[in-house]
Amino acid sequence: MKAIVYNGPRDVQVKDMPDPSIEHPNDVIVQITTTNICGSDLHMYEGRTTLEAGKIIGHENLGVVLECGPAVSSLKVGDRVCIPFNASCGFCKNCDRGMTAACLTLNPGTAGAGYGYAGMGDLQGGQAEYLRVPYADFNCLKLPEGAQEQEDDYVMLADIFPTGWHATRLAGLMPGESVVIYGAGPVGLMAAYSAQLQGAAQIMVVDRHPDRLALAQKCGAIAIDDSKESPVDQVMELTHGEGADRGCECVGFHAHDPQGHEVSNDVMNKLVKSVKATGSLGVVGVFMPEDPKSQNELARKGQIAFDFGEFWTRGLHMGTGQTSVKSYNRHLSALIEAGKAKPSFIVSQQLSLDDAPDAYKHFDAREKGWTKVVLKPQMSASSGKRKPAESRTNARAHAHR
Ligand SMILES: NC(=O)c1ccc[n+]([C@@H]2O[C@H](COP(=O)([O-])OP(=O)(O)OC[C@H]3O[C@@H](n4cnc5c(N)ncnc54)[C@H](O)[C@@H]3O)[C@@H](O)[C@H]2O)c1
Ligand SMILES: [Zn+2]
Ligand SMILES: [Zn+2]
Repeated sequence: MKAIVYNGPRDVQVKDMPDPSIEHPNDVIVQITTTNICGSDLHMYEGRTTLEAGKIIGHENLGVVLECGPAVSSLKVGDRVCIPFNASCGFCKNCDRGMTAACLTLNPGTAGAGYGYAGMGDLQGGQAEYLRVPYADFNCLKLPEGAQEQEDDYVMLADIFPTGWHATRLAGLMPGESVVIYGAGPVGLMAAYSAQLQGAAQIMVVDRHPDRLALAQKCGAIAIDDSKESPVDQVMELTHGEGADRGCECVGFHAHDPQGHEVSNDVMNKLVKSVKATGSLGVVGVFMPEDPKSQNELARKGQIAFDFGEFWTRGLHMGTGQTSVKSYNRHLSALIEAGKAKPSFIVSQQLSLDDAPDAYKHFDAREKGWTKVVLKPQMSASSGKRKPAESRTNARAHAHR
């Protein structure tokens, strides 16, 4: 099959890779119909992780079930499913509490597994024609009738819609409150959109890319351009000198100043100053336990110079970490089905797998007009070894009904 493979820093290639196969009775093989490039993929693309060359990347995946293992009981060939970026077992101590981002089974010795991602186990990614999904009954979210026409909405359930929502939940946002969101990438935009859906009275989004800020305005936010004036001053002005009730960090350890110099603690410290005393912060931007390639000595050890005194004096709370996508995806899917959410408003390009290496370059440069890339494997000529799901039947899966 055709797949996007990581070769090394700023080098991804379209390669012919072996088709995945059923390895465990509860696996399914999904024929991918939409798969996204994520800001998180750029950490690997930029060579800032330990990802080994030869891995297929891609963790925001949607497709059609092509083949079911003999123990799969809730899915059948032809079902359209969206797959959370965290792969999880459903029965370990953490999954049991809904903390699927910290599954203890699929990446032994660590909490948390994912598809095609550094440090998240050995599952291959879905920027490919086909993907093996383990514990498929638990991991696949079956999509409703008509989802095929709205794949660009539903695919956002794999990661960034739940992650934007998670940022607002970690921050404890309540209806009628104000929230400041740093970062207007796909995740920050989804946080702004989620805040709007949850009834925030005032949403402020900080970035310096006019096209991204324009999208933030489209979902009801006030755009704050930090290349023009201090974002903290602008938030203070908009909140009568008090600061926002809640704050969301949607940038991560690659935070930089408007001129492009990396300053890992920039957003965290500005966030502390932008949120009112007793407020709270949701930090979903990625921070690493170590970052050996950083220019900054603290960052190399996974540390930032954090204004803890200011944080403490204000009595702030903070929630951090990866999103347990399964905590949110079913409800957010219902919002899409009911016509109350349309997260595809951030999609800027629909491309084939063949276009992916070029798309990575543009997206990595945060070029104007490159907000969110969705890849459609069926747009490129297939390597052609398998038949599409719709033309197959699966006697084993039906036998379990
Ligand atoms: N917690 C999770 O489960 C989870 C899931 C998905 C993504 N993420 C992480 O969320 C972060 C954002 O993802 P994305 O896809 O939106 O990435 P992105 O890189 O496309 O967007 C980041 C945005 O932040 C802006 N930015 C950079 N420095 C800034 C600063 N100092 N002040 C204000 N804005 C600044 C950039 O201009 C950019 O628009 C990444 O770290 C990603 O890895 C986390
Ligand atoms: Zn992602
Ligand atoms: Zn588990």
